[in-house]
Amino acid sequence: MAFIRIGLSVLLMCALAPVALRAQQPTVTVSVERHQQPGHLDRSKLHLLKHQQFSERSSRVASQYRLPNDTIPESYVLELSSNVHAEDFSYGGSVAIRVRVLQTTRSIVLHSLYSKLVKVEIRNANQLNIPISTVEEDPELETLTIRTDHELQRGIYQLTILFENTLRDDFGGFYWTSYNNGNEVRYSAVTQFQPVDARTAFPCYDEPGIRATFTISITSGVGTKVYSNMPIKSTTITGNGLKQTRFHTTPSMPTYLVAFAITNNFASTRLSLRGPPSSINMELIAPPTVTDTAQTYGLDLGGLIIRTVEQYFNQSYDLPKLDQLAVPDFYFAAMENWGLVIYEERYLLYDELTSTNRDKENVIATVVHEFVHQFLGNLLTPHWWSDLSLSEGFATFYEYYLSSMVEPSIRFKEKFTVEALQPALLFDCDINVRPISYNVETRADIERMFDIISYQKGGSIFRMFHYALGELTFVKGIRRYISVNKGRSVTPDDLFESLQVAASEDAVLPLSLDVGTIMRSWIFQSGYPVVTVTLSNGELTFMQEHFLYRGSVVTSDRTWWIPITYHVHQSVGTVQSQQFWMPQGTSQLVDLFKNSSPATDNKD
Ligand SMILES: *[C@@H]1O[C@H](CO)[C@@H](O)[C@H](O)[C@H]1NC(C)=O
Ligand SMILES: *[C@@H]1O[C@H](CO)[C@@H](O)[C@H](O)[C@H]1NC(C)=O
Repeated sequence: MAFIRIGLSVLLMCALAPVALRAQQPTVTVSVERHQQPGHLDRSKLHLLKHQQFSERSSRVASQYRLPNDTIPESYVLELSSNVHAEDFSYGGSVAIRVRVLQTTRSIVLHSLYSKLVKVEIRNANQLNIPISTVEEDPELETLTIRTDHELQRGIYQLTILFENTLRDDFGGFYWTSYNNGNEVRYSAVTQFQPVDARTAFPCYDEPGIRATFTISITSGVGTKVYSNMPIKSTTITGNGLKQTRFHTTPSMPTYLVAFAITNNFASTRLSLRGPPSSINMELIAPPTVTDTAQTYGLDLGGLIIRTVEQYFNQSYDLPKLDQLAVPDFYFAAMENWGLVIYEERYLLYDELTSTNRDKENVIATVVHEFVHQFLGNLLTPHWWSDLSLSEGFATFYEYYLSSMVEPSIRFKEKFTVEALQPALLFDCDINVRPISYNVETRADIERMFDIISYQKGGSIFRMFHYALGELTFVKGIRRYISVNKGRSVTPDDLFESLQVAASEDAVLPLSLDVGTIMRSWIFQSGYPVVTVTLSNGELTFMQEHFLYRGSVVTSDRTWWIPITYHVHQSVGTVQSQQFWMPQGTSQLVDLFKNSSPATDNKD
């Protein structure tokens, strides 16, 4: 997902301001107030500075927060029923999960929070009911443990859970939102599941490394329009002013990318892209206050950007549709749900009559960020939140890099250094900051991973390697990484392996060096080096040390593999360029090229 985009000075000011708490009462008055104070959304930015208080290791065994691996879901059939259009925020649902038991067990453990369970049932492959001994909810672990009288043998079971729940009012999970239509308030419902809120909407195996298919159907008011990751398969009028909308089954995907929305009188425009490389139906859906110009801009921009991203990664977008939905209230700038990207209005709707240049930049960069995620994040998903940067770091780097291709008149590549690199450097010069890859277990710590380190520092490190290995070699490696790992969860090792193949093919690294070795020093330790170069008696000396705030009382002997490029200006105005890797474990290197290169011989 993308954060609200802002400059660092604004960010520092926000950190001093009190957090604007939203009133809990779901009343019309509150919803009107929300629209008068759009600034309250800025609170999401506070994570960026307040995130560092990761909890001490819990006294409970840490791995208790991870689901056991003896059962896995293969597919979900999820049915929900909501009268949100009538200002009724309760909803009912059922989820039928096809569960594969991998190891004999007497319990099935999955996530569930806030749902009131009405009925839980397990059937075996022959549709025979399996007696359940206890159903236990653990509010700290946010799990649901279903124990059976007898052991479940390896094989397929169907777990069905009927539940009741209430739409949330805090922009998380399945929540309600509203807008004013003249004197009337219209209610809609929408989802934001990343990172760990799918479990608050329906019971599920809510970990990013666990993929399954989802067949979703939603019952709602006949006047509403309902969207989800996949296209609509059928719609049936069910009576009492309600209809049921059924969607096609999704590809195998993690829960945090599931999305659905019940919209009430939204405006919609469509675009069909015909292949090759792929045929995609695109729809832009926005509150009816949207202008025609803004609709057309967002829709056409989306078409242009998905083609740019497909071409850059040499990978076709494989879902039949890619919708963009703008909503009045959204916690983040946007969320990359597969096939249904949801935006806070300002980050999708641009009209040159009423919007600023900055708005235009935000719209382009946000759409690129979310569409890059359709590949890096959705098609390939980090195995766990510890490696969120494999998704958000890449989206941050490419958000600038590919935006500069989409709109060359805006100098996005230069903006990267101001908006991403500098804030990352400023933030990361404290010894207590976490490394890019960092294990987390609890909800609070998982939420804290959405910070400058995962986004801006991750993006800066990928950008450094993009240039250090060479743009062509790097993109070759990324294309390989995508095509080899698509449909799977990935670890940093998967990335190193693909980049290594490209680096070897193009012979861009010394034979003794591999991508994993050099990247690990940046991904698994925090901070960064400052390199001092001195020229004395015809000798160049390179010195690296861990950069810490001046006056810092800690000392550190951390070192990195550093790509160094320098230019030597020669007498007749020609410039010699020299490149080498300064090794980790080395604090000082003298005159590296004295005998091997004319560059240092000819320096003046
Ligand atoms: C589950 O994890 C344990 C411990 O890591 C491992 O020994 C076991 O083989 C795993 N089981 C399955 C079915 O993957
Ligand atoms: C792009 O992908 C296709 C297969 O989908 C492959 O045949 C082709 O070699 C790839 N091109 C590049 C430049 O990677």
